[in-house]
Amino acid sequence: MTIPEDIRTKHAELCRQLHYHSHLYHGLNAPQISDSEYDQLLQQLLKIEQDYPALITPNSPSQRVGSSPLSGFRQIAHSRPMLSLENAFNEEDLREFDARIKRFLGSNDPIEYLCEMKLDGVAIELVYQDGQLQHASTRGDGLTGEEITANARTIGAIPLQLQPGAPRRLEVRGEVYMELAPFRQLNGQRRNEGEKTFANPRNATAGSLRQLDPRITASRPLTISCYGLGEIDAEQTPNSQLEMLQKLHDWGLRVNLERLALAADIDAVLEHYQQFLAERDQLPFEIDGMVVKVNSFALQQELGEKSRTPRWAIACKFPPRQEQTRLLDVQLQVGRTGAITPVAHLEPVNVSGVMVSRASLHNWDEIERLDIRIGDQLIVERAGDVIPDIVKVLTEKRDGSEKAIPEPTSCPACGSPVSRGEDEVVPRCQGLACPARLKESIKHFASRGAMDIEGLGDRIIDQLLRLNLVHSVADLYTLTKEDFFRFERMGEVLAEKLLAAIAASRHRPLEKLLFGLGIRHVGAHLAKVLSRRFGSLDNLRQASREALLETHEIGPQVVESLQAFFTDQHNLDVLQQLEAAGVKPEETAQPQGTIFSGKVFVFTGKLERFSRSQGQELVEQQGGRASGSVSKKTDYLVAGPGAGSKLSKAEELGITILDEEGFLQLFKTGNTEEQ
Ligand code: IVH
Repeated sequence: MTIPEDIRTKHAELCRQLHYHSHLYHGLNAPQISDSEYDQLLQQLLKIEQDYPALITPNSPSQRVGSSPLSGFRQIAHSRPMLSLENAFNEEDLREFDARIKRFLGSNDPIEYLCEMKLDGVAIELVYQDGQLQHASTRGDGLTGEEITANARTIGAIPLQLQPGAPRRLEVRGEVYMELAPFRQLNGQRRNEGEKTFANPRNATAGSLRQLDPRITASRPLTISCYGLGEIDAEQTPNSQLEMLQKLHDWGLRVNLERLALAADIDAVLEHYQQFLAERDQLPFEIDGMVVKVNSFALQQELGEKSRTPRWAIACKFPPRQEQTRLLDVQLQVGRTGAITPVAHLEPVNVSGVMVSRASLHNWDEIERLDIRIGDQLIVERAGDVIPDIVKVLTEKRDGSEKAIPEPTSCPACGSPVSRGEDEVVPRCQGLACPARLKESIKHFASRGAMDIEGLGDRIIDQLLRLNLVHSVADLYTLTKEDFFRFERMGEVLAEKLLAAIAASRHRPLEKLLFGLGIRHVGAHLAKVLSRRFGSLDNLRQASREALLETHEIGPQVVESLQAFFTDQHNLDVLQQLEAAGVKPEETAQPQGTIFSGKVFVFTGKLERFSRSQGQELVEQQGGRASGSVSKKTDYLVAGPGAGSKLSKAEELGITILDEEGFLQLFKTGNTEEQ
């Protein structure tokens, strides 16, 4: 397809503007346009590239939104090993580090050090050739890492091209991390959608970088701070660590320049350490220490390295945020599935600036592991942003008055008997009328990822239960304005708003209702899978075990849980009441044909006659499945020009390979047997 000249020019201009504004925003922290103006430019670029896919280049700003999924991570060797750091835990260790350096150099002159923050994230290497990002990799074992280029391209703070004056070849190292505010937001979102939350920003970062689908990485708030070099091919190389960081910044890379401290000698380093420690809680991200580096590159070279760590740098670890306190009591919480979890109530204690009075005890295996008793002295730790953890019990401090924490035999909320399944870690309340379960089920049903009933939060649900107005989620739909008027602090406007929000949820898509019902093991994703496959609640209820098991991603555990749900008369009554109350989810589009039924397709390379998502839609419309990666289960690979590793893998596995024309032909004739 020929591309009109004016389109080419427009495309090049959009790329230039997007690279420029990205640098202003991330590299210089001085944006000139708003986020929505940036997004408008990006949308224009995406539209042009959709119409003229030949214009897509690996470093087009369009790649920020994430390219198609990979089938695996390629190993990549670092041209210079990515070293690790030795640790110093106290003043003595630091002084010894300085003394060792002086001994090695045979001089007693004071050494100038650069103090940097030790960011708590994931180390990566970026390789730029002629100013263009060529590839990115994780540290791995220091010699070989995993290639994560497509994921790195989605991180706004990683420039896809460097500023003029950058070296011909530059290998740069840095820490990818997540700031605390976006991390909390991400976890909140995941909680709403019924997904597992991340324990701390570092885990969230590592998980986000290791995604085979770069579009997922693109949705995670990652950023980077650069701190070191690999190989560099430049006219002039920097002479010191500080000069190097300044240069990296000039070349367009993100460096935490404002939080560096140059120290004339080791005494000054110790002062900076105290300052970094004091600032730690005010920072918008987690740091777990301070890195001290000999500033002069000439001295660094002279000092060299030991097997895995340089002699010229050390990490001064911060003391963990731990304190000693006492376990006052254990409260039992009942979740919506009836799971009973123990929560520790502690004598309030200040753990580096934050008062801590509760900690999670997780389950009775954990109680046994810690050997914890009420009245025990213990150590709590605040790591990352999470609820504090009990690290250990000071059993030597016991005086004999401590009391064991027995596993409950009845539910603390309703008194029903509880039971613990063989491979379960917590007991569960089975009481159908349990108010604690009911409250949590309603909260989940109304949550944003489920039926999205705005305004139906804790306070309202508490009152609904107190006034005995709801006994199941179905009762929400028969509430009247008069019912709400019985609440404390309830005006006409709020009551009407709530009723309207409840009414609006009657026609949410099936997957939302299915997720909202809180069936064990059926989270937001599987609810979607099941809705697509079965189309209606009735179909799902009547589906045979075999039909369920044939559904991709549905295993025996989910099937058992679905069957248990649909054979419980109480649940069937609730479903009937929901239907009677007019809760009619939009049916999910069912396949329109069966040409591709049971067949798995993968699309790769540049497609010109239709977009990848259009191709995938055609497959799904005809009962097939589109996957992101090639495996033994793949039936067809639809490959356009430029197809790479997926094509070779499909050839290796003997999978039928089609070009666009072949795919369309197959769609028209529906003859999948002959291929
Ligand atoms: S320098 C030879 N500088 O800490 C130099 N590392 O424990 C090696 N880190 O793998 C690393 N902030 O992931 C360096 N300012 C900083 C750092 C830093 C965080 C991480 C990095 C490294 C680990 C070593």
